[in-house]
Amino acid sequence: MARHRTRKKTFSQEPTLATVESLSHDGRGVAHVDGKVVFIDDALAGEKIEFVYTDKHKDYNQGRAVKIIQPAPERVRPECAHYGICGGCSFQHVANEQQILLKQGLLQEQFSRLGKVEIPDIWQPLTAAHWGYRAKARMGVKYVEKKGRVLVGFRERGQPFLAEIDSCKVMHPLIGENLLALSEMIGQLSIKAQIPQIEVAIGDSDCVLAFRVMQPASDADKEILRTFAHQYGISICLQSKGVDTIKPLDGEPEVLPSYALPDYGITFKFRPAMFTQVNYAINRQMIRRVMETFALTKDDVVLDLFCGLGNFTLPLATQAGRVVGVEGDLPLIHHARENALLNQLDNVEFYAADLSKDVSGQAWARQTYTKVLLDPSRAGASEVLHNLKRWQPQQIIYVSCNPSTLARDAGILVHELGYKLIKAGVMDMFPQTSHVESIALFEKKGV
Ligand SMILES: C[S@@+](CC[C@H](N)C(=O)[O-])C[C@H]1O[C@@H](n2cnc3c(N)ncnc32)[C@H](O)[C@@H]1O
Repeated sequence: MARHRTRKKTFSQEPTLATVESLSHDGRGVAHVDGKVVFIDDALAGEKIEFVYTDKHKDYNQGRAVKIIQPAPERVRPECAHYGICGGCSFQHVANEQQILLKQGLLQEQFSRLGKVEIPDIWQPLTAAHWGYRAKARMGVKYVEKKGRVLVGFRERGQPFLAEIDSCKVMHPLIGENLLALSEMIGQLSIKAQIPQIEVAIGDSDCVLAFRVMQPASDADKEILRTFAHQYGISICLQSKGVDTIKPLDGEPEVLPSYALPDYGITFKFRPAMFTQVNYAINRQMIRRVMETFALTKDDVVLDLFCGLGNFTLPLATQAGRVVGVEGDLPLIHHARENALLNQLDNVEFYAADLSKDVSGQAWARQTYTKVLLDPSRAGASEVLHNLKRWQPQQIIYVSCNPSTLARDAGILVHELGYKLIKAGVMDMFPQTSHVESIALFEKKGV
């Protein structure tokens, strides 16, 4: 359900009583009041609550719980002082261990409802640290004259404005615990009102902050930035236009953060603003799960679709005979090739292609593959799936950041393309938020 962001409307603050029937796919409580469905923030299935309306539409309404009369057993007090205002983490009112189970329930429900497929075997959820996990982010920046300060962080819940936060508990502590210092430093810059965002890119041992600047920084500004960078042991870059203009401060070395996959002896280098998985601990476990499931030999030829900078492609290449990675973003493909060289892997090929278009004429698409991995963005992979008739893999692993499109695509694989769903499960990539990362294994029927 899309959240509409129109002109701010006001509603009566008179509380309404409701019993929450279930949880929506984005983690809001679902209730019916006066015959109409209401999606309620901060409400959990089974709870008796009072809520106020926050938005009204023809087919549904939205609200926010203001009093919990009968709490669900999984309800806890949110740990972050900014909960409820900052839109970053809307799942903090659920106990850590329960969050992932609720997400598992949402995944099962989506498979059943949208894909018309039941999950025969639930994969054990992958879990790691519940806080301080986020190594990549685009943070908004806004100088607010009325408040006399610079806001740095994320948007208010359901609003276009930045929330006034001084710390962020899900961000890597190097940045999450120093947001106030960062905002005070930006407040000293002559261009404080010309910085709309910062790309945060943290690797295993380096942190790069790329400041988007709408006006050139003065020498004095650069000195302030340099001093801050040295004090916190980070690297600061300026970005004057597109992401290819990200450059370190004059005289400072270019730092490319990296992350390692020790199980496979692989290290990736990446640039700020490039897609990488945000949670390294879960990423490592997720790759291990893929590798153990595929159990590759040198006879395997693997196709890795939506491959990014080769996060799966390179570990797959350590065991398969050959791996082909395909991705729509050309800079990522260049970077994937550099990472293959860096890791001395020569049985891997990368191609740039828009996988929402017809790719059937491309040479890499006119071969067969023993195994296919899909890791699309939220839109899913429906347009590319029909090519599986030609590729004929025995196994498909589908990694997804959107259970609705995974469920829809599972329906296509099972009901139209001759695959059976073997297993599916959730991974705790984004604790405290309502985002659901999931994984599913399909095998060719009759194999
Ligand atoms: C969730 S990321 C996964 C990247 C990679 N597998 C990883 O683990 O880092 C999805 C990737 O799909 C790419 N993508 C999105 N839409 C695409 C399209 N229509 N065609 C090809 N690639 C696309 C994005 O650029 C992004 O790199």
